[in-house]
Amino acid sequence: MSLHVAVVGATGAVGETILRVLEERSIPIDRLSPFGSRDRAGAVRFRERQLDVRAVDPVALQGHDVVFFAGGEDASDRYAAKLIELGAVVIDNSATFRMRSDVPLVVPEINGDAIRREHRLLPVANCTAIVLCAALAPVRDVAGLHGMHASTYQAASGAGRAGLDEFLADERSLVLGGDEPPATVFPRPLARNVIPQVGAFDATGYSGEERKVREETRKILGLPELRASLTCVRVPVRTAHSAAVWFETERKTTLDELAAAFNRAPGIVFHRDGIVTPREVEGSDDVHVARLRAESDHEFVLWCIGDQLRKGAATNAVQILELLIAKGYLSLQHAPGAAR
Ligand SMILES: NC(=O)c1ccc[n+]([C@@H]2O[C@H](COP(=O)([O-])OP(=O)(O)OC[C@H]3O[C@@H](n4cnc5c(N)ncnc54)[C@H](OP(=O)(O)O)[C@@H]3O)[C@@H](O)[C@H]2O)c1
Repeated sequence: MSLHVAVVGATGAVGETILRVLEERSIPIDRLSPFGSRDRAGAVRFRERQLDVRAVDPVALQGHDVVFFAGGEDASDRYAAKLIELGAVVIDNSATFRMRSDVPLVVPEINGDAIRREHRLLPVANCTAIVLCAALAPVRDVAGLHGMHASTYQAASGAGRAGLDEFLADERSLVLGGDEPPATVFPRPLARNVIPQVGAFDATGYSGEERKVREETRKILGLPELRASLTCVRVPVRTAHSAAVWFETERKTTLDELAAAFNRAPGIVFHRDGIVTPREVEGSDDVHVARLRAESDHEFVLWCIGDQLRKGAATNAVQILELLIAKGYLSLQHAPGAAR
């Protein structure tokens, strides 16, 4: 099998990481077409070559077996339905389709068997929800999961290139002196600060990120009644989202039983002792779990972290493609070997 693959948003934080992960995991690709909001010569690198990025348009997107969307909230909404009708598989990093009842929300280590042959639209879950679910799925499996409360510590690059650039410019101005740039991506300047708001607040006081993480966690874990509350906080970190999580199990369990479950779980690195921080996790495809403690025989706390651009977005997206290939669910839109 040799695929024709398009990446919409290839110049962005997630899109560029998708290109890296596709290279690293040696996905069989004949033709890779990067798209953005405008034409840019030689703007991205793939397999040692600089590729031109084209402004996305519906005709140019046709003829690809797989289209990754990492281009903001509206690009997939505009193009996905037509591409699927033409036979492509769409793997979408936006929130647009995640909660639709007819599409699975897949984190391959947790619910890969939710994908069936007829699924052509595969959203990638919210990055914080992926990290939390990776950490909580082993708990659900050994002792049941009754509820969880989490405070998150979310990196600047979670708000894309613009978020990272704003944070770095703010940090530079504080170190070097001069005028601090105004906060435009974040509701307050992020350097030397923490901001207890990720996304817009609704009438109940919940932020958009908190709502998404709660709903998507329930969907991924298959626990629609899970008691879950979140406080999502932006912190002055480049990359990797962390969370401090309190959780309650359905059945009595022990630290040893939970530790064994984390040690067995694919994609989890369990730290029995010591700590793990975002700078150590940046670039890793694993979710790290540390500081596991017992409050009682059914209440526990832990710390978890994942690189939200990799496992929280690009790596999970590429793992979904790998799963489709392994299951034989991809059909080519072109004659094999017909690279352009
Ligand atoms: N950042 C994260 O940690 C993260 C994690 C999980 C999911 N996501 C989701 O992934 C998506 C991409 O996020 P990001 O952080 O990578 O954003 P980003 O860094 O701002 O990049 C956005 C990309 O989309 C392109 N783009 C913007 N508007 C477009 C349009 N109308 N049509 C086609 N392309 C368009 C941009 O192209 P130009 O460069 O040409 O403008 C750029 O390549 C979003 O839906 C986001 O919610 C992000």
